[in-house]
Amino acid sequence: MSWFGRYLRSSVGAKHIMAVTGLLLLLFAIAHMVGHLQMFGGQDMYNKYAHFLQSLWEVKWPVRAGLLGLVLVHIVLAIGLVAKNKAARPIGYAMYKPVRSSPLGRAMAWTGLAIAAFLAMHILHFTAGLVQPQYFHHLDGQGRYDAYSMFVHGFQNPIIWGIYLAGMLMLSIHLGHGAASWFQSLGWRHPKYPVESVGRGIAWFLFIGYMVPPTAVLVGIIKLPGAM
Ligand code: HEM
Repeated sequence: MSWFGRYLRSSVGAKHIMAVTGLLLLLFAIAHMVGHLQMFGGQDMYNKYAHFLQSLWEVKWPVRAGLLGLVLVHIVLAIGLVAKNKAARPIGYAMYKPVRSSPLGRAMAWTGLAIAAFLAMHILHFTAGLVQPQYFHHLDGQGRYDAYSMFVHGFQNPIIWGIYLAGMLMLSIHLGHGAASWFQSLGWRHPKYPVESVGRGIAWFLFIGYMVPPTAVLVGIIKLPGAM
């Protein structure tokens, strides 16, 4: 087996790659969240942004393929690590009293699974248009794909808003703990770095940033064009 194969099969190698793929996914999550804040700029601003993203297929398809690749590598390595941990201790502790890990840290696999389920729903919703097909692929006055109205119609429905709230809670919990894990996996964890606070800060930043536009729609601050 090549050194890379051996590296990947080792827990240390798998943790390194998980840290790097997780970090790249976090960068995407931040950019995607900041993009949505343009909903506050109105229909023209948001549709211009959505049109820009959708029309650059030379960028769109490599980005889609890259994201899918990152998610798959992250999940496959996570499954491998969980299986390895289980195999190392086939019979559980008689009395399990973790010394350092937090309950949220131990729930990483579950929050990760919940995020995967959320992402599948999200792609069916806004990329494939299968969740609310009645609002999908409308065009605005300038003949552009009307992503703004699709967003507003979507989050005027409290059930959809609640599903996204649950998804963002899972994402924040996962990333909040993920930050501490990256430092650990990359060997940068040191008492002088405020690792836990960085994790908590990222989690709150993403949770609030993502939920502000959908909530502004739900409470009627962001409206359909022409609505009173
Ligand atoms: C409240 C949270 C979120 C909202 C409101 C939201 C909204 C949207 C919207 C409106 C689109 C379609 C854009 C368009 O058609 O131009 C989209 C696409 C997408 N979103 Fe999100 N999103 C959220 C969270 C996330 C998260 C957490 C991730 C992953 C980290 C994510 C990943 C994606 C991906 C991969 C696409 C597909 C882009 C494409 O079509 O190529 N989203 N999102």
